[in-house]
Amino acid sequence: MLHCPIVKRLVVAVDGPSGAGKGTVARAVARALGYRHIDTGAMYRAVAWRARQTGVALEATGDVAIVAAGASFELGDGVIAIDGHDVTAAIRTPDMDKAAALVARNAAVRDVLVTRQRALGAGGGVVMEGRDIGTVVFPEAELKIYLDASPEERARRRAADPAHASSRTSDVAHVAQDLAARDKSDSTRSVAPLAQAADAVYIDTTGVPVEAVVARVLALVHEKAGAA
Ligand code: DC
Repeated sequence: MLHCPIVKRLVVAVDGPSGAGKGTVARAVARALGYRHIDTGAMYRAVAWRARQTGVALEATGDVAIVAAGASFELGDGVIAIDGHDVTAAIRTPDMDKAAALVARNAAVRDVLVTRQRALGAGGGVVMEGRDIGTVVFPEAELKIYLDASPEERARRRAADPAHASSRTSDVAHVAQDLAARDKSDSTRSVAPLAQAADAVYIDTTGVPVEAVVARVLALVHEKAGAA
């Protein structure tokens, strides 16, 4: 056969720490495959934003979970909205980094969002990025990728990321400090900590061009889809 289109639409789980390149890679892979890209971190960020906006203290775990349960999300191509508010830019600030990390420790919020994420990926044909996609949300995902990079490279990327516009993002030392604090919070929390699934493919993206990482993931997708 000369032409072999991918007919099986997989769930591709992409996990890893902040600044490992998950967003860029997941978006490009989804686009190449005609899959949907779901940024689950944006969901935690949006819930934190909405709680704040409606006067709910982030420490009030039950109340924040009620905000999450009642929320409607729009997770479009590069646009994130919650309850009709476009929060695409508002959720990418150092302050929201911290707020989202706090919300992500809330087990009741995680229950709500994991259920939504499973529904979003139920039919396959998704590239879903986060911290617990391969371990908790889709432990049966056909392909799991764990992206990583050196702390220095991750801080450099985050500092240069225009999506994270703020007065401090040009200051790599500060960004590195914030990332280290967030990595610690994400990987030591008791519920669904950042972890590599045993069957995930580990890719160190330090010094590797995005196109090469995307090509590697696409090759893995073809392998998995072909084997199905
Ligand atoms: O990927 P991000 O930086 O936008 O994620 C925001 C926060 O949410 C971060 O503290 C990690 C956390 N998160 C999580 O706990 N589980 C996910 N599936 C996605 C993000």
